[in-house]
Amino acid sequence: MILSYILQVENLKKYFTKKSVFTSKSSTVHAVDNVSFEVKKGEVFVLAGESGSGKTTIAKLILKSIHPDEGNVIFQSQQITDEQKSINKIRMQCQMIHQDPYDSINPRMKILDIISEPLEIHNFGTKKEIEARVLQVLKEVRLEPAENIVNKYPHMLSGGQRQRIVLARALALKPKILIADEPVSMLDVSIRAEMLELMEELKKKYEITFIYITHDLATAKYFGDTIAILYLGQIVEQGPIKEVLLNPKHPYTQALIDAISEPDPENLHKEKKIRINEPVGKIEQYHGCRFRSRCPYAIEKCKDEPKLESKFGRKVACFVEI
Ligand SMILES: Nc1ncnc2c1ncn2[C@@H]1O[C@H](COP(=O)(O)OP(=O)(O)OP(=O)(O)O)[C@@H](O)[C@H]1O
Ligand SMILES: [Mg+2]
Repeated sequence: MILSYILQVENLKKYFTKKSVFTSKSSTVHAVDNVSFEVKKGEVFVLAGESGSGKTTIAKLILKSIHPDEGNVIFQSQQITDEQKSINKIRMQCQMIHQDPYDSINPRMKILDIISEPLEIHNFGTKKEIEARVLQVLKEVRLEPAENIVNKYPHMLSGGQRQRIVLARALALKPKILIADEPVSMLDVSIRAEMLELMEELKKKYEITFIYITHDLATAKYFGDTIAILYLGQIVEQGPIKEVLLNPKHPYTQALIDAISEPDPENLHKEKKIRINEPVGKIEQYHGCRFRSRCPYAIEKCKDEPKLESKFGRKVACFVEI
């Protein structure tokens, strides 16, 4: 086992059964389907993919807030088990920042209590030590004067300030890993860059490892080191972020990049264009390559399931070379 990996995810699987409210028929969603990856200490590992591709479910499985149907999570070379001691360890060392600040902060609590809560749960120290840590962490996320902020309620702060509170709460326990689930998508463009810069600064200062979840490849490119592209619960391409985004080898990665690129007038009539906003097709179609109904390169062979294989300096799950 290579010691430089802080987190390993092995063959994670989570299926959900959904019942239609109209027909009461149930169907199974393969939210996470045999996902494996390794995260190096100190890196920013990006999980990217469209809505519903399984990003948040992977984060919840890592934190054991939901249980996998199959698979393992290994933190610092130790498997996280269902024992409370093991669960507490991952929940202390690995914190999550949610997309919507209102999801994770109670509007009726003062900032002091919001940030103290995880410290109290995990027995950080005396009341005085906890208060000192709250003030310190507020300064780290540049919310000052901290002595003043602690007495406020969330509604008295701006959206950007509230997201810094979420970050401060996540940092309070000095975690080794921060899972940031779309941390800037609800913010104004003007304060997005500030938040990303702050996370970059904290990463360098405290050597925090990030799992950055997003569907926004532009911020991913700015912040990330490694990227895994998810499609309907499976990784289709994974590797160093610059290489994957500059020279994508999976048609779906290519489509995601095309969706954010400026249109090239010379190539407007390019045949092999995938429109990313097209409906996904039959979601139950979980055999063979899941992308094939949308893929302009699809061949007969794509009815078999492509394995995620090492090639072109990354991993790709595709039979066709593009
Ligand atoms: N508790 C649940 N019960 C039933 N289905 C669920 C549940 N949680 C997630 N799903 C389904 O699993 C799939 C993956 O969901 P997930 O929230 O992980 O996607 P996501 O990539 O985070 O999407 P988004 O970008 O919209 O946040 C979706 O089809 C979703 O509807
Ligand atoms: Mg999500």
